[in-house]
Amino acid sequence: MIGKFISIEGIEGAGKSTQLAFIERYLSQAGINVVVTREPGGTQLGEQVRELLLAPREGGMAVDTELLLMSAARAEHLDQVIKPALERGDWVLSDRFVDATFAYQGGGRGIATDRIEQISAWTLNGLQTDTTFLFDLPVEVGQQRVISRKGDIDRFEQEKTVFFQKIRDCYLQRAEQEPNRVKVIDANKSIEEIELQLTAILKSLISA
Ligand code: TMP
Repeated sequence: MIGKFISIEGIEGAGKSTQLAFIERYLSQAGINVVVTREPGGTQLGEQVRELLLAPREGGMAVDTELLLMSAARAEHLDQVIKPALERGDWVLSDRFVDATFAYQGGGRGIATDRIEQISAWTLNGLQTDTTFLFDLPVEVGQQRVISRKGDIDRFEQEKTVFFQKIRDCYLQRAEQEPNRVKVIDANKSIEEIELQLTAILKSLISA
């Protein structure tokens, strides 16, 4: 049996954590075994790579290094967590997956799409999410939410508005290109409205 693969995406401050918890609860209550995970990360090695990627560093990081580290963490994640879970028949719910690479390293950092396609073809080897929820909201709203949160700001969160604008545009473009897989959820709506939208999509995914 093959399980289903869901990822959630969005710019910083889109409220992914709250929605992730809702989706997990909804699927569990429907009797589905859900493996909740994240990128970069999800494995011991991947979490170490995440620390390298997210820690603010003087002089920054070459964009190709960033792309390759994200991809290396993903290769490990696929091998150790995602594929085994799907093969067992469990569902996988990942906080970010490959769409983030297209949006952040492609849209944000400016790496050519065909380069990202090449490395993704290599790491994914044909695997893609069944459904990706894109939590969309204006960049300024997301940034305000990040600022009002307590805690340290990571290397990506330090970026300027224009960087996140490019990322948002790229995410929306991907949703337009693949409307059956990438579902745009208006993250600026009330929690109740967002949950209604999610429930409708999850119901049809469960019955598919
Ligand atoms: P998060 O916990 O906020 O999702 O942090 C992960 C950060 O890593 C976020 O700023 C997006 C970034 N990221 C990429 O740039 N490319 C990727 O492929 C992934 C998975 C995440």
